Amino acid sequence: MKILTGPITGKNQRSISMGNTVELIKKYLQPVYVETGCAMGDGIVKAMEAGAQRCYGIECNPEFVLHCQKKFEGEKNIKILPGKSEKHLLDVIEILNHKRERALIFLDAHKVGPCKLESYPLHIELRQLGMAKTNSHTIMIDDIRLFDGELQIKNRDVLRMIDEINPGYKMVYEDSNTNEKDVLVAYL
Ligand SMILES: C[S@@+](CC[C@H](N)C(=O)[O-])C[C@H]1O[C@@H](n2cnc3c(N)ncnc32)[C@H](O)[C@@H]1O
Repeated sequence: MKILTGPITGKNQRSISMGNTVELIKKYLQPVYVETGCAMGDGIVKAMEAGAQRCYGIECNPEFVLHCQKKFEGEKNIKILPGKSEKHLLDVIEILNHKRERALIFLDAHKVGPCKLESYPLHIELRQLGMAKTNSHTIMIDDIRLFDGELQIKNRDVLRMIDEINPGYKMVYEDSNTNEKDVLVAYL
């Protein structure tokens, strides 16, 4: 495991950011973009703009799902999967395995607002990524400033789990569109 920069802690602890930027996606671009907790589909629009060839969005809020389905109607290269990421991510990983495709996987599924005591599927998502036959996908995790607090997962456990997926991963903290050094990127 190689950590290239440190996270900023103690800053902007309250707000939940709305993630990714076109520049960040471009920097780590892969042919396929996967976003868990894709909400209104903004990240998917940015991924297409950045040059992704296909996108999968997973979202459990039915209103957001409906919004995305309308927004991306007729777009053959964009698939919105309604339901929890715990249910769909493994299937998406299987498809990527089958097609031998590499993806940029943006993990952003969690409750919006005060998240204490709500479930946070990141540890399940990381375990599922570890089951992939090719452990070479680029992983991005948003809102890392909220680890060890509002989001109930420990930063060191996340780093360990990523290292277990592939010890070759280099890790770096990048800026999101709202917070400095708030996106953990693991890449090869
Ligand atoms: C912070 S928002 C995501 C923002 C979005 N990624 C963006 O950048 O625009 C978190 C989203 O995760 C969704 N969510 C929460 N738990 C989930 C789960 N287990 N599986 C899938 N989506 C989930 C919420 O409904 C919400 O839309």
